Amino acid sequence: MRLDRRRFIAGSLTSAVAARGALAATPTGGAAAGPTPAPPPSGGGPDPALATWPAVREQFLLDRSHVQMALMLFASHPRPVREAIDRHRRALDENPVLYLEGNFKLDVAAREAAAAYVGGKPDEIALTGNTTTGLALLYGALPLRPQQEILTTTHDHYVTFEALRLRAQRTGAKVRRVPLYAVPEKATEDEIVSNLVKAIGPRTRIVAVTWVHSSTGVKLPIRRMADALGEINRKRPESDRALLCVDGVHAFGVEHESVGDLGCDFLVAGCHKWLFGPRGTGIVWGRADAWKGTSGIIPCFEWTALEAWMHGKKNPDEEVPGGPRTSPGGFQVYEHRWALPEAFQFHERIGKRRIAARIHELGTRCKQGLASIPKVKLHTPMSEALSAGITCFEIDGLKPKEAVERLLARKIVASNSPYLASYVRLTPGILNTPEEVDRAVAEVKALAT
Ligand SMILES: Cc1ncc(COP(=O)(O)O)c(C=O)c1O
Repeated sequence: MRLDRRRFIAGSLTSAVAARGALAATPTGGAAAGPTPAPPPSGGGPDPALATWPAVREQFLLDRSHVQMALMLFASHPRPVREAIDRHRRALDENPVLYLEGNFKLDVAAREAAAAYVGGKPDEIALTGNTTTGLALLYGALPLRPQQEILTTTHDHYVTFEALRLRAQRTGAKVRRVPLYAVPEKATEDEIVSNLVKAIGPRTRIVAVTWVHSSTGVKLPIRRMADALGEINRKRPESDRALLCVDGVHAFGVEHESVGDLGCDFLVAGCHKWLFGPRGTGIVWGRADAWKGTSGIIPCFEWTALEAWMHGKKNPDEEVPGGPRTSPGGFQVYEHRWALPEAFQFHERIGKRRIAARIHELGTRCKQGLASIPKVKLHTPMSEALSAGITCFEIDGLKPKEAVERLLARKIVASNSPYLASYVRLTPGILNTPEEVDRAVAEVKALAT
């Protein structure tokens, strides 16, 4: 293959282009020279234009004939995200190569926006296509010596289970699974933390957990778990430290805590669920130190890595920080990836704490309503410390799938959890109103009686 620096890579690698600056405007009027700048982050607090929940709801093109109580599966895009996607798509359609070459710095902007949102640094962020890809990259990349093991739980989603199983199959890594609580609705923080501590062995190097379980709605006390691990790690050398890795997708866009507040080593999330970010986007955040020693799975498209390869260095990715190094290379759906800043800013314009308070308020209303129905069994804890936006329950005598179908016939979009013990889920978010929650609960009541 002939290496044509400009055509093949130079234009396609973020740092190279960022360093060179964007290319000159195109004859078609400058679309390729640079995008319309994204609105600046609110910085000074919530945006008055999004001060009311009806105003927030107005930003979405949702079908209003249904009560949408399953948006945690897949996002609708709010106006600023839609507009950014349209803008990039149009420019790419008009001038794909020049727009691409001129705008690779937008990958950096996406990592900067993600870092500002989670409270990390841009180089600590990998851009991925979804949670699944992020988990697979992370669990494939983390260092593990032959005697060391991965500890995970029986509550995790299929994708964590599979990412770890595949790692074990490829490398012979040992994976151990433990329950952190016996009965979800009665789970306590003490129970969870003490079960975790009991399960950590001298060889445990990776701890793989999920912040909010999509099976039960239980939210793990990540800070307390991190502190408990910190105590254990204090006596260990760096290469033996147990790394706390969190699938955070069902808290991402719900809870307001930063990665510093959480104290974990890695946080993985898709941006196309509660965050209402571009469909097909996700991130992995890792502490700068925790990225050290990880090995790539998919070649990154970073200029320094490519240059090292061209000059015959053995490990071309050695000089690239963990986040960009772990971002899969190859050309991407840039109109979606480059609309990420608008998604993070949308949440910041509403206010992260305000969003958390609203989702908890609606969730509590939903749980209280369901708990008052005699034939309904709630499986999500009532406590806000142990739950987020997912409410799981069963209706006596009705299979979850059947209940979801019957709710849909009554224009309530619910979901059933894809686990062996499957439950019905209602997941009210920032697009829902208290009245919608009451309507959904009333329809559940009608089904149960
Ligand atoms: C806990 C959990 N993690 C990961 C996923 C997969 O997310 P993504 O579609 O972003 O890969 C899901 C379900 O959709 C989930 O419930």
